[in-house]
Amino acid sequence: MLTPIRVGIAGLGTVGIGVINIISNNLKLIEQKTGRSIKIVAVSARSKEKQRGLSLERYDWVPNPIKLAQRDDIDIFVELIGGDTGVAKKSVETAISAGKNVVTANKALLAIHGGKLAKLSEKHNVLLKFEAAVAGGIPVIKVLNESVAINKITRVMGVMNGSCNYILTRMEESNLSYSEIFSEAEKLGYLESDPKLDVGGIDSAHKLAILSSLAFGTVISFSGIKIQGIEEITVKEIQYAADMGFRVKLLGIAEITSGGLVQTVAPCLVPKTSPLSQLEGGINMIVLECSEAGTIVLQGPGAGREPTASSVVSDIIDIARNSEIKAFGRSYDDLEDTNISNKPSEAPYFISLLLDDKLGALARVTTTLGNKGISINRMRQYDHDSSRAPVLIITHSTSLKAVTEAITELPKTGVVSSDPVILRIEE
Ligand code: HSE
Repeated sequence: MLTPIRVGIAGLGTVGIGVINIISNNLKLIEQKTGRSIKIVAVSARSKEKQRGLSLERYDWVPNPIKLAQRDDIDIFVELIGGDTGVAKKSVETAISAGKNVVTANKALLAIHGGKLAKLSEKHNVLLKFEAAVAGGIPVIKVLNESVAINKITRVMGVMNGSCNYILTRMEESNLSYSEIFSEAEKLGYLESDPKLDVGGIDSAHKLAILSSLAFGTVISFSGIKIQGIEEITVKEIQYAADMGFRVKLLGIAEITSGGLVQTVAPCLVPKTSPLSQLEGGINMIVLECSEAGTIVLQGPGAGREPTASSVVSDIIDIARNSEIKAFGRSYDDLEDTNISNKPSEAPYFISLLLDDKLGALARVTTTLGNKGISINRMRQYDHDSSRAPVLIITHSTSLKAVTEAITELPKTGVVSSDPVILRIEE
């Protein structure tokens, strides 16, 4: 039996306590799987007094996580504080510089500073692991770094935020407004302490930035992601989409196109019969389009104590087994600094607008679309409400540029009386 691997945990929230529970309840199994025992030596959090439902007496209490990161008697520093600045960043940098391996669930930190941290970890010859940072319990980092390592990946997409998925699903089933369901999700504790991270699409974008880098071998570019959240989605649009056979999902999509790397987080429509459409609540799904392995679909809980803690402990186990896999699967300097493009691949689009009840109004709209080369696949006009009627259009596959240009032209027809809603359709 090798010497025990010694762990310090900074951050004792939901996931931190989950990690302590899983390790404490599985000591024998961990020894069998790694040939080493795991010992939690010390912990750190803001309040020592807070009731956490378990005794912390057997661990040294270190008020300052940066001090914990420097301790001589730890081999792995587990960062579960969160946030891309302040003490989380400083403690991770300190731990790496002190020669400690780091396990973190901090997606914001990695999306924004992942490149620098990966290089620092290479310089100090330590491991930086972050399975729990993307999609909770789904082992997508391991799949990208190991299982499909030899594949050229052309596209990564999926539902990466359970809170938004919950809100959109509940709006559809209850017909309640965004703000009513937002309050419900907040009361249930489903939202980040800054809910804008969830509903503004930023949390999904953090995860997408990490996944694109791993998938395409490109440097992380969080700032290159075009982000649109779910705050503007109305029950009406959800009902219209449902009427046309679709559900609204907040999708993260990253793809390599002829123009470069395109990364987008936005509400999109998916067919009601598709696997993405079936996702309920906190369940995430990530789809990888791989050159050799084909299309790989990973589905599972994207958040929560046990799933996320399971991913943290799997990283600890990898380190105990002497894994040597670099943070982004290769030396960070070998990643490509590719061009960032805002021209996604062509797709069908859903266009919803309010049309004035005037002679030839519909013809003017379809002519505007036709002039931009947009072909209509299906459309529906509802009854007029006073003098206007909702019109829903499903286009054939077309470019975002053409749709955007057509929408800009529509007010000139003099028959469209509200800003049209445009949503990409992912088939
Ligand atoms: N707020 C996130 C979600 C938590 O809902 O998916 C996990 O990152």
